[in-house]
Amino acid sequence: MSEAGARARSNIAFVKYWGKRDEALVLPHTGSLSLTLDALATETRVRFSEEAGPDEVQLDGERARPEEARRVSALLDLVRAEAQRQGVARPGRARVESRNDFPPAAGLASSASGFAALAAAAAWAAGLDLSPGALSILARRGSGSACRSVLGGFVEWVRGERADGEDSVARPLLARNAWDVSVCIAVVEAGRKERSSRDAMRDSATTSPFFDAWVRTTAEDLESARAAVLSRDLERLGEVAERSFLRMHAVALGNAPPAIFWKPPTLALLERVRGLRAGGVGAWATVDAGPHVAVLSAAGDSGRVAESLRAVSGVREVRVCRPGPGVERL
Ligand code: PMV
Repeated sequence: MSEAGARARSNIAFVKYWGKRDEALVLPHTGSLSLTLDALATETRVRFSEEAGPDEVQLDGERARPEEARRVSALLDLVRAEAQRQGVARPGRARVESRNDFPPAAGLASSASGFAALAAAAAWAAGLDLSPGALSILARRGSGSACRSVLGGFVEWVRGERADGEDSVARPLLARNAWDVSVCIAVVEAGRKERSSRDAMRDSATTSPFFDAWVRTTAEDLESARAAVLSRDLERLGEVAERSFLRMHAVALGNAPPAIFWKPPTLALLERVRGLRAGGVGAWATVDAGPHVAVLSAAGDSGRVAESLRAVSGVREVRVCRPGPGVERL
């Protein structure tokens, strides 16, 4: 019997990951760039027994649904196989307990913190000694965006060239205390999405006529965003971030079937952010595969931004996030 726990945070991408070139290995068509957030965390404990048998998975106190349990077991299988390869005793069935401090599967990227925490807890419980890069590759197999949550601060997920995915890895760009920014997340709706980002992302790569243009232009956006982060140029980063999410959603609107993630408050929030800018507040929006709007600003402006977002009709809650750390052992 061996046990370990890990805490990982969510991250918000300013250059989005949207589309896999390899579904099984979770290899992206493009690189992406994100900030790990301090406020949205998942804590996961993994306990391996020596006996074989089906894994037991609890998410937020409830037994996981079959599809969720299958994805968790698939990641645990990679850990079991790696343990065998490294000559450590192969662990048997696992008991997994995972808790989010935010609503799951509602577009707040719970898969990022969830799979980063699971990868770390499982690797540590199995006694594997993995570098941060190797841990990010493992987390990537659970969910692409999870590879970025292994690290804190500003992170780039390098696309990589190799067919085996060993160079498709997260790398640190800027430490979390090196730039005083904040991200205010306006939550407009709780509950589950109609279509998972995984399915919509696959539809984009296979059916959207805009997908090739997305891949082509994202390479330029990544260059520009990386330079903006390294020079701490908030306006430049904000402009790239808005371009990137709008194009990602444009690609998804072109899917068959179309993926429309926005709700009426989403558009109202986007207008509000433009209004803030017109009034001289440096604030830029980004939207993942859901209806919520995340707004980047200087930390000193976050009070004003949060207050303004809270006043938009249909907003349930605004979470003010700061740059967060990478995965931690519990
Ligand atoms: O990691 P996934 O499969 O949940 O994909 C997430 C994709 C976006 O959140 C929409 C964009 C991103 O880069 O995080």
